[in-house]
Amino acid sequence: MLVSGSGTNLQALLDADDLGGEVVLVGADRHGVRALERAMSAGVDTAVVAFADYDDRDAWDAALHVRVAAAEPDLVVLAGFMRILASRWVRSWPLLNTHPALLPAFPGAHAIPDALDHGVKVTGATVHYVVEEVDAGPIVAQEAVPVLPDDTAEALHERLKMVEHRLLVDAVRLHCRGRLAVDGRHVRIAS
Ligand code: GAR
Repeated sequence: MLVSGSGTNLQALLDADDLGGEVVLVGADRHGVRALERAMSAGVDTAVVAFADYDDRDAWDAALHVRVAAAEPDLVVLAGFMRILASRWVRSWPLLNTHPALLPAFPGAHAIPDALDHGVKVTGATVHYVVEEVDAGPIVAQEAVPVLPDDTAEALHERLKMVEHRLLVDAVRLHCRGRLAVDGRHVRIAS
């Protein structure tokens, strides 16, 4: 799993029963984030490959890729990972990402303020497979969340995360059980 922040999605996966797999490594692009503490508390290996320690993006990306490859994952989950990865990643593993909006609306790193600024009445959460283009991969699961009058970004994000936790755990569970098949833009769920 790759993280950049508080790690509540990571925690949902760590707490999930019957995931059909285990979290073998939590990688971060910066030191000192709460997600790393969560991993350590759960006895999961951590690796920090700090973006700030590298002169160029590709050197950082390659170093993180080497560290993740050493853990031999079958799936890489981006759970609040706030950097764009190079194409080597999609060539190496299936990747799942959770995004706090109903894609293709509001892609990118500012999905929640963008949705509030736009004045939408409904936003939501999306879990999707990662492709080279940012936030554009085949969608595994989505769920709408109403925007309330006078919502703040923080309050809305808290409600979105509750949905994300459930969708992400379900998606990882289905992936680990081999029940997800990508067919072009469509993800078919086998019963
Ligand atoms: C989640 O809401 C996730 O969707 C978002 O960061 C949050 C991480 O929360 N990711 C993005 O915005 C990626 N563009 P967490 O660290 O508590 O799991």
